[in-house]
Amino acid sequence: MIELRDVSKVHPGGVTALDGVSLSVGAGRIHGIVGRSGAGKSTLIRCLTGLDPATGGHIEIDGTDIVAARGSELARARRKIGMVFQHVNLLDSRTAEQNIAHPLEIAGVPAKERRQRVEQLLDLVGLADRRGNYPSQLSGGQKQRVGIARALAAEPRVLLCDEPTSALDQATTRQILELIRSLRDRLGITVLIITHEMSVVREICDSVTLLEDGRVARSGDLLDVIAEGDSALSKALVALPPSTFEGTETLVEALLAGDADAGEVFRILGASGLPARVAAGTVETIHGSQVGRIRFSAAGAAEGARIAGALRDAGVRVEVFTGEEARRVDAAALEDEEEAR
Ligand SMILES: Nc1ncnc2c1ncn2[C@@H]1O[C@H](COP(=O)(O)OP(=O)(O)O)[C@@H](O)[C@H]1O
Ligand SMILES: [Mg+2]
Repeated sequence: MIELRDVSKVHPGGVTALDGVSLSVGAGRIHGIVGRSGAGKSTLIRCLTGLDPATGGHIEIDGTDIVAARGSELARARRKIGMVFQHVNLLDSRTAEQNIAHPLEIAGVPAKERRQRVEQLLDLVGLADRRGNYPSQLSGGQKQRVGIARALAAEPRVLLCDEPTSALDQATTRQILELIRSLRDRLGITVLIITHEMSVVREICDSVTLLEDGRVARSGDLLDVIAEGDSALSKALVALPPSTFEGTETLVEALLAGDADAGEVFRILGASGLPARVAAGTVETIHGSQVGRIRFSAAGAAEGARIAGALRDAGVRVEVFTGEEARRVDAAALEDEEEAR
């Protein structure tokens, strides 16, 4: 449904924001794009809409070549794309209902048809009882619902979301993500969601791409990426909280993925009789599979090696950190936590 081949974008002034980006998102999938600030995420979305054209490569959305399309063909292609932003930008002088009707008015949809469509959209996003409220009378989550309804007004096949939940609290974020997922299920739309929050990716994405300096550093199905264990994206997706670290222990990190669930890891260690202390752990269920990481702390290098060996022999992916490296790994968790705040 969304196909990018070797897409590049050099901004006026010479900044290369995208450099050979190739990406493919199948119909009805929810795909996450993550990356640090400045990685090129917003540029990518603007290139997809053709509003800020790519300077090289091919972009196909629902069969239309967005880079080559001009005039009415481009306008038609754009109608298949809905956009949702972090800040909703509603018209303050219009009610929720009137804001949703706005793009339909611009498109010249007759009044009767417009009313029916707005009715459906209000139901779709669960705002029927708030239709008469002005933006100042709506919560952040409700405003975002209006924004999503407005984006769906022209019945797009693709929904592009740029940080849709970044201005919302955790509970509201969860509700909006749940709405996006149910819209995908009910309407069969394809969703591209840009976010700096790994929790958003874990919660609703089928697949994910990490952008670094305008290039694809990693892209794949969520569970495949997590199962790599030692990649930066896998570590970010299932991150460990900070632990207490004395400075002399050896750290052994076990990856929970595939057959290696937490129960299996503890069974192996129990049977081995080795003394392993749990320093930190994270366990989640994603698409019905248990994934996570457990960091064990061993008194010294020899004990650490034996714990790692017992787990490896049973097919569990492990990483071992000693000395300076262990200190660095432990400190990284603190930095991540600060960044996430
Ligand atoms: N309109 C623009 N003109 C010039 N440079 C831009 C423009 N928009 C973005 N950039 C630059 O392109 C790079 C990627 O920016 P952006 O796509 O906004 O990243 P992200 O959304 O991942 O934070 C940055 O170096 C940014 O400064
Ligand atoms: Mg951005």
